[in-house]
Amino acid sequence: MKLIIRVFERTENAGQAGAMLIGGQMIRKPDSIFGLATGSTPVTTYKQLIKMTDDKLLDWNRVTTFNLDEYVGLPGDHEQSYKTFMKAKLFDFVNIRPEAIHIPDGMAEDPGAECMAYERKIREAGGIDLQLLGIGRNGHIGFNEPSDVFKTLTHCVDLSDDTIEANARFFSQPSRVPRQAISMGVGTIMKAWQIVLIATGSDKARAVAAMVQGPIDPQCPASILQTHPRVTVLLDRAASVALSR
Ligand code: PGA
Repeated sequence: MKLIIRVFERTENAGQAGAMLIGGQMIRKPDSIFGLATGSTPVTTYKQLIKMTDDKLLDWNRVTTFNLDEYVGLPGDHEQSYKTFMKAKLFDFVNIRPEAIHIPDGMAEDPGAECMAYERKIREAGGIDLQLLGIGRNGHIGFNEPSDVFKTLTHCVDLSDDTIEANARFFSQPSRVPRQAISMGVGTIMKAWQIVLIATGSDKARAVAAMVQGPIDPQCPASILQTHPRVTVLLDRAASVALSR
């Protein structure tokens, strides 16, 4: 099945369209399980979801969420942890039950056991209905970095130099960026019933073209999405420029 690709003239419309797809899923199935992402890209989506919730369009009371990833070595209350990010950008402003929120524990004493437990929790919850994704400049999804093989399940990952450099903007010094993360695997992501990937800005254009039109290759982890039956890719014009017509 071909990926569905939509290109928006206004950058914020790509994120808002993502909120519409998430909202639609929540209206159709109030006990939906969502896979959520961090980073700059989904911020507009989360803002719009908060607005739709304020407008009484959405009710999070029966929703469950699983985040894609978390840095290893940052406590949940660290200002750069993904737990802090999710609270500040979404969870503190919607009526989700705290026990329905799942984010890998970056401080787990045994990260391997944490990965297996996370995978099991997703399975026991019934699997992800809709997974929201961004994409890294190097084609990563979650923290599945370019590699010789597709890493299938939730695992502990060494971050690539490119990702460390891209994320250094959030830390006072590049040396403070954690070197490892726990991430859902490509296989975990592919099991989601539906996937919505948002990419905006010219620095994503090459990765978007490789994802959509390149070979299916673990050197561009997002390229595996070509084999998923229900993927919607939401782009702004700048992120779409390297796509051939
Ligand atoms: P960004 O990150 O939204 O901050 O660009 C996306 C990603 O790395 O997946």
